[in-house]
Amino acid sequence: MTIQWFPGHMTRAKRQIEEKLKLIDVVFELIDSRIPQSSRNPMVDEIVGSKPRLVLLNKADLADPGRTAEWTAWFRALGHEAHAIDANSGAGVKEIPAKARELMRAKIERQLAKGMKPRPVRALIVGIPNVGKSTLINRLAGRSAAATGDRPGVTKGQQWIRTGSDLELLDTPGILWPKFEDPNAGSLLAATGAIKEEVLHIDEVACFTLQILAADYGDVLRDRYGLAHLPERLPDMQSAAEVLEAIGRRRGCLAGGGHVDFEKAAGVLLRDLRSGKLGRLTLESPIPVTVNGADANETR
Ligand code: G4P
Repeated sequence: MTIQWFPGHMTRAKRQIEEKLKLIDVVFELIDSRIPQSSRNPMVDEIVGSKPRLVLLNKADLADPGRTAEWTAWFRALGHEAHAIDANSGAGVKEIPAKARELMRAKIERQLAKGMKPRPVRALIVGIPNVGKSTLINRLAGRSAAATGDRPGVTKGQQWIRTGSDLELLDTPGILWPKFEDPNAGSLLAATGAIKEEVLHIDEVACFTLQILAADYGDVLRDRYGLAHLPERLPDMQSAAEVLEAIGRRRGCLAGGGHVDFEKAAGVLLRDLRSGKLGRLTLESPIPVTVNGADANETR
């Protein structure tokens, strides 16, 4: 379901998550392993505050495993425990309860020292639409439990899902809005299917994606689309459009007069990307940079 996020929706979504935060011990921040930076909500740090957080890099089955390892290390360097999962197949999901307990270890040990029996750790999943929140809730619950639907501002009675171990999960996730202000993030969200491509120009999304793919996964493009002369660097949209044109010609995406239909060609490329036909790819990499002599982490 596509939703338009207006400032009122964002305020309400933020307030609802803040209400839920009062009930829980640990936040599971769900992001897309293919675009770990662009699939984060821009205000997530402010919203989550000091609650212990486990960053879950979902859809790891579609992402480049080497890059996922780099990103996991990057989040840990920022002080967030991070873990890669595939909520669809369940890979990595069974480790989540132990990781959540680990984040609460000091508190649990204090309770045990006082002779108290620790209660189950309570968690909330937060993330932007389509990142896999409902899939993960169902996977953790072991049944079809999660209410789906991405409507900001819709509240239901809060219910806890017992996951069979000592973890309890709020049955409704916190729905956060995606990044809008950064056009590159918008393109990556559209390329991976997190936001509907109608919102943006699909051929521009495809060209931006091609610039990244040519640099990082050139051989994949060369092999799949027979692009023997693909350069490593596509410095501008014009050079990317030429590659898109070559893909369109190769794939028979023609409009009248033998011209390539760029939208069709873009559709072919993006469908191949989303369905995994181009292999396991990650479109963002963490790059450590130094700012004013101090280490900082930035992405490109
Ligand atoms: P949401 O609640 O955060 O909005 O996301 P939801 O669980 O509905 O998942 C969105 C889509 O992402 C679903 O596909 C789901 O199957 C897919 N998905 C979730 N987790 C994973 C994962 O780990 N790996 C892969 N490959 N896919 C995952 P869908 O409903 O079929 O939509 P679509 O595939 O037609 O876009």
